[in-house]
This record gives sequence, structure tokens and C-alpha cells, in this order.
Amino acid sequence: MRLTYLGHSCFLVETARARLLIDPYLRENPRAPQGAADLSCDYILLSHGHDDHTADALKIALRCGATIVANYEIAEYFAALGAKTHALNPGGGFNFPFGRVKLTLAHHTSSLGPALNPIYLGAPCGLLVSADGKTLYHAGDTAVFLDMQLIGRAGLDAALLPIGDNYTMGPDDALVALDLLRPRVAVPMHYDTWPLIAQDAAAFATRAAQAGHRVEVLAPGATLAI
Ligand code: NI
Ligand code: MN
Repeated sequence: MRLTYLGHSCFLVETARARLLIDPYLRENPRAPQGAADLSCDYILLSHGHDDHTADALKIALRCGATIVANYEIAEYFAALGAKTHALNPGGGFNFPFGRVKLTLAHHTSSLGPALNPIYLGAPCGLLVSADGKTLYHAGDTAVFLDMQLIGRAGLDAALLPIGDNYTMGPDDALVALDLLRPRVAVPMHYDTWPLIAQDAAAFATRAAQAGHRVEVLAPGATLAI
């Protein structure tokens, strides 16, 4: 399994049998690699409804014929706009041809649309992806929560964790999350996109190492094999 970081919380996950795009926020993201919005994929996995996780989903799904995998409300929303979708909900998983996707809890919100009348798009989620004998956890946007211990029981080869603070957990709580999840490697996300969520990811990696955890900081465009 190969991960390519595309900025913010967006990753391309290449498995032996499919290309998965998680939380595409590309055209409007100043830190996304040039041309990232033109990539092709087979599945688009969405953690929650917020625009900084779903902005490019429909356009890419329609262009590639990719299936959007998300909670029930998000899946219904994009199905109504013409996309192929597969609905799940927290605790539920499905065995796709490439591997398994299961939704987990996340503590956050999940809406989309105009400020005065947003559409509420179900429960925010994390994503557990198992393929090629590896298990990847994308935490979505979330606070730290004690049930991360249960997610860690899956035996995580990699965990993608927000560290930006303000909208999600910051570095201090992400260190607690590492203790609960115990992944073989963690990659920070959801930071530096805007000044409000600026963080020193290298300092976070150093502190994690001191606590016995391996953190790989990926620049947008960088790839990690797990
Ligand atoms: Ni969010
Ligand atoms: Mn977000």
C-alpha cells in the first residue's frame, strides 16, 4: 500500500487492485500539488461533509466513474447529484474488490452548504482501510477520544492524524491519540493549510519519537510505502 499526501487531509492510497482518494480538497487548497485535482481514482472515501474534505469529490467521481464511499447522508447527497456511491455508517464495513473499508467514530461536525442554511450530513467519521494485508486509519477531523483504543485493536500499520488544533485535536492531544492507537507509523494532517491551523509538524514528530512513536511528516506530493 502506497500513500501520497495531497495536502490538508487528502491522500491518494494505491492498493494492488484500486486507487483510493480520501477527502479531496485540491483546487481551492493553496498547498495541494499542481495538477492534483486531475488525478484519476477508482474510489473516493469521505470522512465527513465539510467542504475542506469534499470539495472536489463530485467532479472527480463523475470524471473517473469512481464510487464515493461515505456515511449514509453523504452518500445519498452525492448519489442525488449523479455519482456512484456506497453508504456505510460507524461500526459498519464492507468488503470491496480491493479490500475492506469500515467507518469509525469521530468527534466533530458534518455539514455542507450556505452558512445560513447548511445541510447536515450525518455523523462525522474516521476511515479504516484494509488492503494488501495492511490496515490504514484516517482519523478524519476529530478530537482525541478514549475509544481510539478500540480502533487501535485492528493493528494499525499507519494512522493519519489531524494536528492543526482549533477545528480538530492539536499536537498535545494527537500525542495522546498515538498512545491509544499505537500505529506502526503516523502521518500528521490538517495543519498549515491556513494560518489558523499552522503547526510545527517536525516538532510534533520529535515529541512523538521521545514517547516511542514513529511519525513521518510528508510534504504535499510526498509518498510513503506502508
Ligand atoms: Ni471538518
Ligand atoms: Mn476539516
